Amino acid sequence: MKQKVTVVGAGNVGATAAQRLAEKELADVVLIDIVEGVPQGKSLDLAQAAPIEMHDSHLAGANDYEASTGSDIVIITAGIPRKPGMSRDDLLATNRAIMKNVVGQVARYSPDAILIIVSNPLDAMCHVAMEESGFPKNRVIGMAGVLDSARFRAFIAAELSVSVENVQAMVLGGHGDTMVPLPRFSTVAGIPVTEWMTPERIEALVARTRSGGAEIVGLLKTGSAYYAPASAAVEMAESILKDKKKILPCAAYLEGEYGLSGLFVGVPVKLGQNGIEQIISLRLTPEEQKALEKSAAAVRELVEAMKKMT
Ligand code: NAI
Ligand code: 2OP
Repeated sequence: MKQKVTVVGAGNVGATAAQRLAEKELADVVLIDIVEGVPQGKSLDLAQAAPIEMHDSHLAGANDYEASTGSDIVIITAGIPRKPGMSRDDLLATNRAIMKNVVGQVARYSPDAILIIVSNPLDAMCHVAMEESGFPKNRVIGMAGVLDSARFRAFIAAELSVSVENVQAMVLGGHGDTMVPLPRFSTVAGIPVTEWMTPERIEALVARTRSGGAEIVGLLKTGSAYYAPASAAVEMAESILKDKKKILPCAAYLEGEYGLSGLFVGVPVKLGQNGIEQIISLRLTPEEQKALEKSAAAVRELVEAMKKMT
């Protein structure tokens, strides 16, 4: 039997994720949105591309959650994206309310699902999702590190004029301006990037990675990035659906790892059929640890701000 993935939010990220899931034949896909007709129309359009793209994934769209019943994975992209001049954190109150509403219904219809959270501010939204669903920590996972690392990888590959297939990278921390790209754990053909470039060039690519989302918002003007974010969420879903056990940087609920507790922060994890099957602890330098703690403090600030909201 084919597995089932529901994508909530049929906007830019959600619809692109649905397309990639279907075209890779990873699962049957249910697309849900609050706007009437949009998830139905987009899923019908995607289904009509199937004979050309040659896949047999079934696609359906809905405005309520009955169609999502028994999903293996639910990817949540519902919410508003940022506009130029806005930070991800400016989305907090609006997207918190949306996330609470969505997750309540998701948990009711798919109590055994693994949640992949995409909506921003990402790490704070993971807290809302875990609280509202009551799901264990291995089944609530945030998408950010895969995207941020992919940006770093793309910039490294372009700088050195090498295949992206040769480049691996690691970005830890919260999905914000304080994220922590780790050049020491980023490699080209297995060789640390520190062997390939001067510290100045590395720092320039690190800075561009940190503002990678804002760079695209500035260009698009009416929304934020969606092709790479959708790819990132689907890579995570694939590792879970196929029990591949890939090591990917994801937002995970920490209970003592990296000296942090009670907080979702981006760290390397093993993703398999049970969701997060292991949190990988890297030995960080004092500077890297300090940067991670600064990033975690920015996440904690948002979590505290949410506690004051009704
Ligand atoms: P979008 O505006 O294109 O789509 C959002 C969709 O959510 C819309 O179709 C809207 O109707 C729907 N929606 C709103 N309230 C809803 C509700 N209560 N129930 C169901 N659907 C609802 O936005 P886009 O570009 O798809 O981004 C979605 C979210 O993902 C944003 O918050 C954005 O900031 C975030 N994002 C996060 C990334 C990450 O790395 N974690 C990367 C890219 C986007
Ligand atoms: C990004 O990094 C908006 O969080 C989104 O592109």
